[in-house]
Amino acid sequence: MSKQYKIAVIPGDGTGPEVIQEGLKVLKAAEEKFGFKLQTKTFDFGGERYLRTGEVLPDSAVKEFRRDFDAIYLGAIGHPDVKPGILERGILLKLRFDLDQYINLRPVKLYPGVETPVKNKGPEDIDYVVIRENTGGIYTGVGGFSMKGTKHEIAIQSMVYNYHQVERCLRYAFEYTRKRARKNTLALCGKTNVLTYVYDLWERVFHDLGEREYPEIKRDYYHVDATCMWMIKNPEWFDVIVTGNMFGDIITDLGAMTQGGMGIAAGGNINPEGVSMFEPIGGSAPKYAGKNIINPLAAICAAGMMLEILGEEEAARAIEGAVSQVTSTRIKSLDAGKMGYSTSQVGDMVAGAL
Ligand code: IPM
Ligand code: MN
Repeated sequence: MSKQYKIAVIPGDGTGPEVIQEGLKVLKAAEEKFGFKLQTKTFDFGGERYLRTGEVLPDSAVKEFRRDFDAIYLGAIGHPDVKPGILERGILLKLRFDLDQYINLRPVKLYPGVETPVKNKGPEDIDYVVIRENTGGIYTGVGGFSMKGTKHEIAIQSMVYNYHQVERCLRYAFEYTRKRARKNTLALCGKTNVLTYVYDLWERVFHDLGEREYPEIKRDYYHVDATCMWMIKNPEWFDVIVTGNMFGDIITDLGAMTQGGMGIAAGGNINPEGVSMFEPIGGSAPKYAGKNIINPLAAICAAGMMLEILGEEEAARAIEGAVSQVTSTRIKSLDAGKMGYSTSQVGDMVAGAL
């Protein structure tokens, strides 16, 4: 009997539904070719539902995801009529935290035929993975105000990490680097010269764990500002970068630009022991919504990553190959409206190239 997976689909806001539709199209083609089955159920969480009902994401839905599904496939969250933060925190961050998706896997890969703003660099130079810690750090919401509204107001937002969170993230990163078997190099991105508590902990655990259990993996360390510099100047140095939540958020937007933009940047929010969630990292892009001009490749790559994490590695590699074929031979630009094809045509081409 072929393997079956249950997927919760949340198309979400803006261009989310359009790109998810193309991702599902490619997944359908992969199912037929590689002999597995996806059972999907669609959920309408997002801005429209919130405006209609006042509901963001009930705990019962999180429970259902945890109990009944193997993975979540998410389009985009963010609506122009909803105050920033409500949906992002109430849906995206809530799912990451409640499902303990403690790894955010963000490949920075320049596909063949894609233009990068980084001069004199090609696909062989820009090909690494950022592992962003995804449930801790400054994202935990520890902090508060005092004397709010006065000139003595104090606002505190704390960067909080415990040993357990740091260790499990670093272990995942070492294992991932070993499995990737490319340059066998793991770089820690931190700020040990200023954040002398949090990144001291990260650095100690990084070297202890590496020396003890992963001696064959080369360990590099970069401050976050220098990381940004080298991502532009010498991206070929990188193989896998591991970092905390906030730095990971920031450097992956930079990374996405070097790989040709948000149109192709995919991410996985991973709980290695639980339910993971896969998404294009570009957001809901409301100004392009409903025009059939948004690039679906990021959502398609996220679908490929979902298959990889589910264990359908051959199908995942095939999707990557099909995307490569389409970027190298067909698409003119990765930008919305400039691809030379519509959203659905790009989906058709990738599905056809499988
Ligand atoms: C991302 C986004 C989110 C984050 C926002 C929307 C909360 O920027 O996935 O990178 O900061 O993690
Ligand atoms: Mn971000």
